[in-house]
Amino acid sequence: MEIVVFGAGSIGSLLGALLARVPDHGVTLVGRDPHVSTIRRRGLEVTGIESFTVEPRATTDGTGLTADLALVTVKAYDTEAAARELRTGEFRAVCSLQNGMGNEKALTGRLDCPVLGGTTSYGAVRTGPGEVVWNGAGEVVIGPWRPSDEDETAAEVGDAMAAAGFDVDVADGAGIRRRLWEKLAVNAAINPTTALARIENGALGDEPGADLVEPIAREVGATARAVGVSVSDEALADAIESVVTATAENESSMYADVQAARRTEIDVINGYVVERAGEHGVEVPTNRALWTLLRAWEAERDLRPVDA
Ligand code: PAF
Repeated sequence: MEIVVFGAGSIGSLLGALLARVPDHGVTLVGRDPHVSTIRRRGLEVTGIESFTVEPRATTDGTGLTADLALVTVKAYDTEAAARELRTGEFRAVCSLQNGMGNEKALTGRLDCPVLGGTTSYGAVRTGPGEVVWNGAGEVVIGPWRPSDEDETAAEVGDAMAAAGFDVDVADGAGIRRRLWEKLAVNAAINPTTALARIENGALGDEPGADLVEPIAREVGATARAVGVSVSDEALADAIESVVTATAENESSMYADVQAARRTEIDVINGYVVERAGEHGVEVPTNRALWTLLRAWEAERDLRPVDA
């Protein structure tokens, strides 16, 4: 399968490298320099859970590309821009594997091909140009976003990922929405706390960090049910705990953002929970406090867009 990985950050680079190991897959990474120029010169080096080097194609120009599949792995605030570039190319399917909510909506708003929602709990950190550390073996869940996307596409994409050794689950439309809320709970618990306390994911497995898991699971669960997604607080707490264990050594993407003084995805994670909860009269004080703290950090560094 020809696969474009749109967004060669930590997770995009890791997933692209794993896919590029399959002889039948042709992989093109879309990213920024100097990462892209280094990959072109000496390949993409993965260390950590497994160590290997692959030589995928790499480009800084995401326009006019053609492939069977585009995996979207950009930061959520770049999804609109990614969709505009993807629109200039031709793809049989596009699949979001991003953090936060709203990505699938942004993609379906601009693209005519089938769009799949997706989540991944792999842990990865890009340590330098052409280098990524694989810190957590997770799971990938994909599923059709619109009723019109409910054909064989998700199963074909699932097979292509399974060929690369991914633990992949193909869900239906209701299933992928429920799994996105589970991943939202995972990110709402892990990302801001690790970023603010400057700790690895595993610190949420022990006291006092572990004290945050239950209130966040409860708040996200109450909000999910208020918007009509059937998920229990226990299932969300279990999802958080299993990702904390599987990615214990990992520095979360938000911790990496804070260290690099980059804008974070807080608005589409805890901010999304606060806004949906507010529409339904659900109290979410823990999510609100985390959202406020990260927004204050972003505002101090002029990292927030003027309209946010
Ligand atoms: O954003 C992240 O870092 C990842 O989604 C996850 C799964 C929490 C692992 O660190």
